Amino acid sequence: MDSNLVRKNFVEFFKTKSHQINSSASLVVKNDPTLMFVNSGMVPFKQYFLENSISKHSRITNSQKCLRVSGKHNDLEEVGYDTYHHTFFEMLGNWSFGDYFKQETINWAWELLTEVYKIDKEDIYITVFEGSDDADNLPIDAEALDIWKKIVPKSHILYGNKKDNFWEMGEQGPCGPCSEIHIDIRSKEEKAKISAVDLVNKDHPQVLEIWNLVFMQYNRKASGALEDLPKKHIDTGLGLERLCMVLQGVNSNYDTDLFTPIIDEIEALTGFNYKGKSTDTDVAMRVISDHIRAVSFSIADGKLPSNTGSGYVIRRILRRAVRYGFSFLGMKTPFIYRLVNVLSGKLGVIYPELITQKQFIENVIKEEEIAFLRTLDQGLIILDQIVKSSSDKLISGKKAFELYDTYGFPIDLTSLILNEKNLSLDIVGFNKELQQQKNRSKAASESSIEDWVVLIDDPIQEFVGYDMLSTKVKITKYRRVNSVKEGDSFQLVFNLTPFYAESGGQVGDKGYLESTNGDVIYILDTKKENNIVIHSVKELPKKINELFTAVVDKKQRFRTECNHTATHLLHQALRETLGKHVEQKGSAVHSKYLRFDFSHYEKISDNQLIEIENYVNSRIDGQLPLVENRHVPMQDAINSGAIALFGEKYEDVVRTIKFGYSFELCGGTHVKNTSEIWQFKIKSEGAIASGIRRIEAITNDAVKDYHKETNKQFIQIKNLLNNTKNCLLYTSPSPRDGLLS
Ligand code: SER
Repeated sequence: MDSNLVRKNFVEFFKTKSHQINSSASLVVKNDPTLMFVNSGMVPFKQYFLENSISKHSRITNSQKCLRVSGKHNDLEEVGYDTYHHTFFEMLGNWSFGDYFKQETINWAWELLTEVYKIDKEDIYITVFEGSDDADNLPIDAEALDIWKKIVPKSHILYGNKKDNFWEMGEQGPCGPCSEIHIDIRSKEEKAKISAVDLVNKDHPQVLEIWNLVFMQYNRKASGALEDLPKKHIDTGLGLERLCMVLQGVNSNYDTDLFTPIIDEIEALTGFNYKGKSTDTDVAMRVISDHIRAVSFSIADGKLPSNTGSGYVIRRILRRAVRYGFSFLGMKTPFIYRLVNVLSGKLGVIYPELITQKQFIENVIKEEEIAFLRTLDQGLIILDQIVKSSSDKLISGKKAFELYDTYGFPIDLTSLILNEKNLSLDIVGFNKELQQQKNRSKAASESSIEDWVVLIDDPIQEFVGYDMLSTKVKITKYRRVNSVKEGDSFQLVFNLTPFYAESGGQVGDKGYLESTNGDVIYILDTKKENNIVIHSVKELPKKINELFTAVVDKKQRFRTECNHTATHLLHQALRETLGKHVEQKGSAVHSKYLRFDFSHYEKISDNQLIEIENYVNSRIDGQLPLVENRHVPMQDAINSGAIALFGEKYEDVVRTIKFGYSFELCGGTHVKNTSEIWQFKIKSEGAIASGIRRIEAITNDAVKDYHKETNKQFIQIKNLLNNTKNCLLYTSPSPRDGLLS
C-alpha cells in the first residue's frame, strides 16, 4: 500500500466516525515558550486540551508534520544508525475534545488496523498502564484493560510502566495513561525462537510501537501534583513511516516508498550503493535522506537555518547531513539541495508548499552547504596546525573544543581525521569543556514558572483591543516567574483585555493597570500562550480581586500601528514593483521601526528602492481608509483575493485587512486611515539568506527624527564647506500631531 493511500485511508476511516479532517499545521510552533517545533500531533491542539479555547469540532483527524531532535530515543546524533527513528516524521492522529473516550478509541484503532489495513491480529501486541507506586500513586488503567480484554487475547496484552505508558505533554499540563500498539514483523523462524512478549519496548527493530493511544484524564500542575481534568480527551499518534514499513512488508522505514526515491537519488549523485546495512556509507545515506525532509519542511514553513534558537536547530541538522556526505560519501561540493526535487515529487501532492517553494528551499540549502563546506576546509587547515604544533600523540580536548566552538568544526570529524593520522583525541577533556559551556548557558537562561493561582475560574478570555485602548478588567489568574537573569516577575490573565499580545510579527502592547485608589502597576509586555493573553508585570497589585482599569500605552500602540499598516503597503509595493514571486518570509513590527523579509533573488537597485518608497508614500497620501472584516470564512477570504502567509496558523474564520488594493489576512492592529502614517522611509535593504532579502523602514515620528538628524548633518557639512548660502531645510507637520498622548 503506497504511503499516500495509507495516509488517506487513515483520515477517511475517521471521517466515517464523524471526525473533521484537518490539514497539517506548520512545523514551527508560535506562541508557546516551551516548544520550538511540533514534536507530536497533539501540539497544534494544546489550547483545546488546556481548555483555553473551545474547538469548533469535538472530533478531528489529520496527518501532522512533526520534528523531534531531542528526547526519548531521538537524539539527533542517533538518527540514521537504526532503521525506525527520524527527525522529521508524519504522525497520523485522531482527537476527541471532551467527546468520546477509551471505549471508542480502542475499538476504532483495532478496527482500522485489522479490517482496513488488514494487519494480522496475531502480530499485534498491546500495552496497558500498570499503575505507579511513586508520589503520584496511580492505579492500573483497569478501564482500558477491560476493553482490550474483550478484543485481544490475554497473551497479547502487556503491562507497562510510567515511562512507556503514561504520556505527559511536558513538565505541566494535560496527561494520562496510554495504550501502545506494537507490531511484530519478524519472520516465522524468528518468531519461533523468541516470543514478541519479550521484545516489546526493548528497541527491537522489528517488534516496534506504531500507535500510541493517550487517554488524557489528568492535569500535571507546576507543583508536580496531579488533578483530574474536568473533561477527558483523546490524543492518538500513529507513525506513518512505521505503518508503511509494516504494510509494505519491508524491514526498515528507509525501504518504504517515503524514502526509496531519495536514497535512489543519493546513490545517483554519490556513486555509492545503499545496501540497508550498518556500514558508514549506509548510515550516511539514511542520515541524509532523513535530514533533507526535516530541513526542507522547516524552510517551507518559514524556519531558515540561522545561529540562534530554532534556526540553529535546522542549521545543525543540515550540517550533520553535509558532514556525513563529506566524511563517508566523499562529497566535497554541495549536493544535498539536489534532493529537494525528488522530495517535492514524492510529497508535494500532500504538502504543496514543497512544490510552490521548491526553488527557494533549494537555494537556501545550497548556500548553507557552500558555507559549511568552506568552514570544513578552514577547520582542516587549523586542525593540521594543531597536529603539527603538538608533540604528543594525544591531542588536547581544549584545543579540539576551540576548533568546535569557534569554527563550528564537528568533533567526530576531528576524531576521524586524528585516527587516520594515528593520533588520538582527549575526548574526556573535550567533554569537560563542553559540559562547562552547557552549564554556563543553562545557568544564564534558567527560569521557573509556578502554577497559576486561579481567582475566577473562567478560562475563555475576550480581546477588545481592536476597538478600545482602555477598559475595566478583573484578574482571573496569575503566576510567579523566576528567572536567573531578571529575578521575580508575575504574569496576569484578565477576563477581557485591550492589550494586543505579540503575534504575527507585531510586538505586544505595554501599558498599565490602575486600581480604584489610583495605584498603578505597569504592564511591561503582552504575549500569547496557548491562545491566552498573558500580561507581564514586575509586582502584583495590593488588592488583587479588585476591578482595575487596564490602559494600553496609546503612543506605542499608534506608532506600532503605523508600522504595521506600512508593512502591508510595503508588501504590496514589492509585489507590484519586483513581481508576484515576492512572498513574505517574516516581519517584525515594532513601535520604532518595521522589518520585512521576503523572497527575491537579486539585489534591489537604488531606483527600485525609490520606486517602492514612492509607491508606499503615494498610498499614504491617498488617504486610504481601513476596510476590516473580522469574521470571514477562511476559504471565502482566499477566494476573494486576500493574501495568506504560508506557515501561519489560521482559524476557520479569519480577519481581513484592506487598504486600497492591499488585502491580507491579519490579526494585527492598524491605523484607521493610511494618512495617519504621515511618511514612510526605507532605512536599509540587504540579503539575510540565499533568496531572502530584508527591508528595514520607519514611519511617522521616526521619519521626523530622521529628517531632523539629516538636517543637522546637512548644516554640519554646509559649515564644513564654509557655505554661507541660505538653504531651506525640510520639515513637514504630521497630520497626527497633537493627537498623541
Ligand atoms: N501524544 C502522543 C505521542 O506523541 C500520541 O499522539 O506519542
